[in-house]
Amino acid sequence: MIKKGGTYVVMGLLNTDSIAYATGKMIEDLGGKVIYTAQNERLKKIFFDRGCPYLSQEDKDTLDIRYCDVTVEDEVRELFKGIGDVNGVVHSIAFANPKTCLGNHIYTDAFEDIKQGFQISCASLATVSQFAQEHMPKGGAIVTLSFASQIAFPYYNWMGVNKAALEALVRALAREYGREHVRVNAVSAGPLTTKAAKSIPHFAHLARTWKKISPLPWDTIKDKQEVANAVLFLLGEYSKKITGQTIYVDGGASAIGGELLSHERPSKTMTAKRKAAAKERLERMRILQKQHQQGK
Ligand SMILES: NC(=O)c1ccc[n+]([C@@H]2O[C@H](COP(=O)([O-])OP(=O)(O)OC[C@H]3O[C@@H](n4cnc5c(N)ncnc54)[C@H](O)[C@@H]3O)[C@@H](O)[C@H]2O)c1
Repeated sequence: MIKKGGTYVVMGLLNTDSIAYATGKMIEDLGGKVIYTAQNERLKKIFFDRGCPYLSQEDKDTLDIRYCDVTVEDEVRELFKGIGDVNGVVHSIAFANPKTCLGNHIYTDAFEDIKQGFQISCASLATVSQFAQEHMPKGGAIVTLSFASQIAFPYYNWMGVNKAALEALVRALAREYGREHVRVNAVSAGPLTTKAAKSIPHFAHLARTWKKISPLPWDTIKDKQEVANAVLFLLGEYSKKITGQTIYVDGGASAIGGELLSHERPSKTMTAKRKAAAKERLERMRILQKQHQQGK
């Protein structure tokens, strides 16, 4: 999947709840070298002071974290210049002022906030891709993170608009950089408990909604790992001919219409019917085994 010894830049580390952290950790576990980026020096310090309470000092010492504010082109250019050749980049970055861009009403006259949200959450992928691909002489992969842009969820307002634009940008970048053998894709994830998610008004409502619309059980904490798995797939060798796509890792919520009926809702535990069938299978196997031992 991941190229052993390959270099992967994972952008958007805030704390160990970040999707960036789950992804970077997995890349490291599979033998890749990870360079994380935090937005600035202050946020890097916050990461070490209170963002990673469960990491040992040894683990902290091994983390390579650099700064990069994606709204500052020189910082993005310098980041990649300082790293050399890279195999893959994860753009796990978004921001929009929750007071003006998220909430009860879509209308706002805070155009500067709208522009800022668009620049950070969408346009920055083009900046990152431009400077990253110059350091991918043998090709590479860029993966960004999206959320349910095909439908409108309450409160998500301008961020929903930014995500729709981000997915359109993924297609445009895939078209441009294909000739360089650089692939660009997005993973559209279901709701996950992170700092960015907590700034979405009524995030708990969104998480509850997922229980009603996701055919598979969806865990807002544990399923970060499933999202990271898909990011790794898109970074690696098994997705060589996939580019310009948005892959949904959302429990299937994007594929169905309306709420699940009560008999369709996923159960965390096995239903009584499936339990009985499993017991019967086990019993049958025991009888067969016994007959075999008796030479029948
Ligand atoms: N958490 C969810 O429910 C969810 C679901 C689908 C998609 N996503 C997307 O996943 C991505 C990562 O978010 P997360 O949930 O891990 O939250 P997070 O808060 O841990 O990560 C967001 C990151 O964006 C960074 N950032 C903001 N402005 C920046 C700038 N100007 N320059 C550089 N970095 C900047 C923040 O510092 C932070 O590290 C985002 O694009 C988010 O929209 C999240």
